[in-house]
Parts: sequence; structure tokens; C-alpha cells
Amino acid sequence: MTQRVIPIESPRFVQPAEFAAAANLADLFPDNRPLALEIGCGIGDFMVQLAARHPAINFLAIDIYNQGCLKTCRRLDAAGLANVRVMRIEARQLLVEGGGRQSLEAVYINCPDPWPKKRHRGRRLLNAAFLQMLLYFLKPQGELFFATDFSDYAEGVAELLPDLPGYANLEPLPVNVAPADYPVSKYMRRFLDRDEPIHFLHWRRRDGVDVLEPPEVRQGFRIRWGRAGND
Ligand SMILES: C[S@@+](CC[C@H](N)C(=O)[O-])C[C@H]1O[C@@H](n2cnc3c(N)ncnc32)[C@H](O)[C@@H]1O
Repeated sequence: MTQRVIPIESPRFVQPAEFAAAANLADLFPDNRPLALEIGCGIGDFMVQLAARHPAINFLAIDIYNQGCLKTCRRLDAAGLANVRVMRIEARQLLVEGGGRQSLEAVYINCPDPWPKKRHRGRRLLNAAFLQMLLYFLKPQGELFFATDFSDYAEGVAELLPDLPGYANLEPLPVNVAPADYPVSKYMRRFLDRDEPIHFLHWRRRDGVDVLEPPEVRQGFRIRWGRAGND
């Protein structure tokens, strides 16, 4: 059973018409500052902390989950943070339709859906094609942060690094050691409270490895609006 979609009135929420009218993601913000993206912001607790720590950066927090976007907006509104916008959109759709070449300083992905069953692993967001695609949107020296509670997800992504010369591994991070000043998300907190490990990857886009062509949405690409009951 799918739940009803609740309209989001917050000024921080990017309505579809505003996105359609924007020439690029920077246009969604009043000031021209460096731009960072969080994919799968959930209920926004990571973004509330991150945006408060970095007021000189504009943040776009996206999720396909309507209630997550609503809760994220409520938190941001309560905190009075002016440097964050929230969108309900699928990550690849956002990038292909709105992302500009070398437009992002950083991308944050925390505890993405793990798809633990072997036959579902192909549905994981972070795969070679997605990571290669991100290179087009990241600035040279732009950073990619990935946190997961699933060791085989972290290992699988780490093993892709040699085939992705556009990235350098910034610091091989031991389990449960986040990059400096990294906020704890709701899911990260849940696993840490159970003494379960979180695995972090921190990569940087190399200079001089240029990706000139915008990625195309592959044939048959479908936008998924979340699982049943998670709309
Ligand atoms: C397990 S939750 C983690 C939420 C949050 N990052 C945290 O760590 O607490 C994963 C979130 O990613 C969202 N999500 C999954 N696939 C996505 C995609 N392709 N684009 C945007 N959001 C996505 C889900 O709706 C969900 O809110």
C-alpha cells in the first residue's frame, strides 16, 4: 500500500516547477557559493548538522521519500538554515536533468539502501557506472563521501577504485572512523548504538582526468519513487 504524498510548503523545498525553470542547480540558491549534494538525506539530521557547520557552502539535500523531504524541511526550517534546499528527486534524474559539468564541490551518501540479497545487488546506487557518472559533475578536487553499515557494500565500492582513475582515495579509513568533522546520520547512529560498524570511504576527484561528455540516461531507465509504503 502506498501512502499519500503530503505537499511540502517549506521555502527550502524545491518545487518541480522551480527545478524545471532553473538553468542549473546553482540557480536554486540566492547566493553563488560552492555547492554540495547529499543523496538520500532521509529525515535530514545529517544535513542539519553539516549545513550549520559550513555556512559558506550551499547544500542540496535530495531524497525520493516524500515524508523524508518533509521532515528534512521541518528540521531545516526550525534551525533557520538558509544555505540548504531540499528536493524530492531520484539522484540520477537530478544529475542528468539539472547537474552541470564540474558543478559540485562534494557529494555525501550515507547508508544508501543496501539491497542485501545477492540477486538485488545490481540495484545498489553506488556502482561503476554511477561513480563514473559522478566524475562529470564533481569539480576537480571535489570530494565523495560514502558511509555504509554493510561491509560488502563498502568493500565492493572500494574494489572499483583501480578501474576509476578519475578518483584518488583520500584516506583509507579504518572501520567506524569517519572523516574529520563528519556528522552522524540517523542510520549511522542506529548502527553505532548497537555497536555495529560503519564503513567510510572518502575519495577525491583527480585533476586532469576530464569527463567532457554529459552522461546519458540509459535506455529503459526508470525513475523509482521508493518502495511501497515509503512514498
Ligand atoms: C537507508 S536510508 C538512509 C537515510 C540517511 N542517509 C541516513 O543515513 O540516516 C536511504 C535513503 O535513501 C533514499 N534513496 C534511495 N535511493 C535513492 C536515490 N536513487 N535517489 C535519492 N534518494 C534515494 C531512500 O528514500 C532513503 O531515505
